[in-house]
Amino acid sequence: MSVRDIVIFPDDRLRAPTKKVTEFDDQLKALVQDMFDSMYYYDGIGLAAPQIGVSKRLVVIDIPDSDEQGNVLEHHQKVLVNPEITFKEGLVDSSEGCLSVPETNETVQRAERIKFKYQDLEGNEHEEEADGLWAICVQHELDHLSGHLFIDYLGTFKRDRIKKRLVQFKKEHKIK
Ligand code: NI
Repeated sequence: MSVRDIVIFPDDRLRAPTKKVTEFDDQLKALVQDMFDSMYYYDGIGLAAPQIGVSKRLVVIDIPDSDEQGNVLEHHQKVLVNPEITFKEGLVDSSEGCLSVPETNETVQRAERIKFKYQDLEGNEHEEEADGLWAICVQHELDHLSGHLFIDYLGTFKRDRIKKRLVQFKKEHKIK
C-alpha cells in the first residue's frame, strides 16, 4: 500500500498510448490498491493508471454516499480493467476537475447515459449502464486511457492559458 505521485499536466505520460492488461495477478491487485490509496489521499473520485505514470488500461472509481457534512456513509469502489464504452446517449453539461490538472474547473459536454464493458480483477467480463455522476466519471477516466484530458474539449485559447498557469504551478511546487 502506498500513495504514488500524481502526474501533472503538461506531461507526455498523460498522452502516451496505454496497453491492455493481460495478467490478472497479485501485482495487478497491488497496483489497484496503490491507485485507490493515491485517489483517496488526493481527494479524487476517479483515477486512471496513466495519472500515476503507468500506461495500462486500468481505472479506479469511488463515488461514495455522503451525509450533508460530507462524511462518507458508504463507499462504492469500482475497478475497471480494459474498459470500453459501448453506447452513448444524450448530452449534459459537466463541471469537471482532474487530479492531473490542479486548481482547474471547467464545464465540458458529456453523454448523459452510457453502457460500458470492462473486466474485474479476476478477468471476468461485465457490462453495465450508468447515468448521472457515474456516467460522467467513467467517460472522464476512460478519456485518460486514450491520452485525452477534459481540458482538450475547451478552445485553444483557454487551454493554452491553463497550460501556462500549470507550467508555472509545477515550477513553484518543484514538480517534474
Ligand atoms: Ni482526470
